[in-house]
Amino acid sequence: MHKTLDEVKVDLGDCKRCTLCETRTNLVFGVGNPNAEVMFIGEAPGKQEDLGAEPFIGAAGKYLNSLLELAGLKREEIYIANVLKCRPPENRDPKVDEIEVCSPFLRNQVRAINPEILVTLGNFSTRFILKTDRGITGLRGQVHITGRFSVLPIFHPAAAIYDRSKEPIMEADFKLLGRLIEKRREERAQRANDSGQDN
Ligand code: URA
Repeated sequence: MHKTLDEVKVDLGDCKRCTLCETRTNLVFGVGNPNAEVMFIGEAPGKQEDLGAEPFIGAAGKYLNSLLELAGLKREEIYIANVLKCRPPENRDPKVDEIEVCSPFLRNQVRAINPEILVTLGNFSTRFILKTDRGITGLRGQVHITGRFSVLPIFHPAAAIYDRSKEPIMEADFKLLGRLIEKRREERAQRANDSGQDN
């Protein structure tokens, strides 16, 4: 039996498993619908998230909110978490040992939510979920199947804020996400219809 989100949160507690606890203001667990069809996974909290204890509430989060509309999603429908629960100083990249110690909590969050679709934002979450060393540029915009999840890697929104030439790609990928959600809903409806006819 999988743990509930509340149980995962209790396990994490006032985590001091790595040195990021010394510089964080708040631990950023994750937020959203515990029964989400779509779960988004980012990299690590930034400054605003560290202060507000919520993922994606800074500039990248505002951009993400506008992209969600292209997929027909509202922020309250989805669940969002990060690979790391604490902000790395100066927003440096997560270190291997930090990912190792923190990622079991993300894994348990994914199991608790059991979404149909995982959207991985950027290199760190994509590599973790797809268990690959490949970079996001070669993986984005295609649906990958891992276990029972459909995984759609997309550039990190902060990368597209930094490099505006990525904006059209972001928009195309979020529209693709919208089509994937529709397809999954149709398949579910078909299965429900088929099992109704069997009875
Ligand atoms: N970038 C991330 O990867 N996660 C956040 O929560 C905010 C910015």
